[in-house]
Amino acid sequence: MRGVFVTGTDTGVGKTVVSAALMIRYPESRYWKPIQTGPDDDTAEVQRLSRCTRENVHLRGERLPDPVSPHLAASLANTRINLRSLTEFAETERWVDPWIVEGAGGVLVPVNESELMIDLIELLGLAVVVVARTTLGTINHTLLTLEALRARRLQVVAVVMVGASNADNRAAIQHYGQPHLVHQMPWFDPLTPEALREWAASPLGDCLG
Ligand SMILES: Nc1ncnc2c1ncn2[C@@H]1O[C@H](COP(=O)(O)OP(=O)(O)O)[C@@H](O)[C@H]1O
Ligand SMILES: [Mg+2]
Repeated sequence: MRGVFVTGTDTGVGKTVVSAALMIRYPESRYWKPIQTGPDDDTAEVQRLSRCTRENVHLRGERLPDPVSPHLAASLANTRINLRSLTEFAETERWVDPWIVEGAGGVLVPVNESELMIDLIELLGLAVVVVARTTLGTINHTLLTLEALRARRLQVVAVVMVGASNADNRAAIQHYGQPHLVHQMPWFDPLTPEALREWAASPLGDCLG
């Protein structure tokens, strides 16, 4: 599988919005949300924001109704997430298009009794985009996430900071974390497909270099 895995420092940081921007910037890509917990439908939101076609999204995956961590959501649904069966198709089907795969929560979110979201990233063998907040606390959360990814020798292609720009936090993440690139996505009010399209077309939207 070719493409990127979009993870974040937390849930609700902007992974879905950044994934939609990547779908706009790289329209030949295919979006996939392998694990979705709770009532949100990130795939529908990416389609709405990016206006990509049904052919550009992959619908297969774990869909668990409770808005909790995947390991718990699965257990509450009397099931268990098996990362190998979830990703099996990626090995057999020879996709040529790049993938934009969105995680759930952050890298150390448990998916079953012994595996974490970072194991899914490793299995897929994708480079990683880290989505982070811009506000106080983000330096620690982002550096911890970068350290966890580096410990597994996973390649980080970009950090995208979402929200009102904070130059000091951005400089600190660049200095201490040394990710390839730190991007800044403003807080759109309102968040519309047009506003996102404009950002995605700008040099900052070129997250994959
Ligand atoms: N750049 C942005 N401008 C405006 N709203 C945003 C932006 N990024 C995220 N949001 C909003 O913040 C919330 C969380 O974003 P989302 O992308 O769903 O986070 P995650 O996928 O990390 O859980 C959503 O309501 C989303 O619409
Ligand atoms: Mg999301």
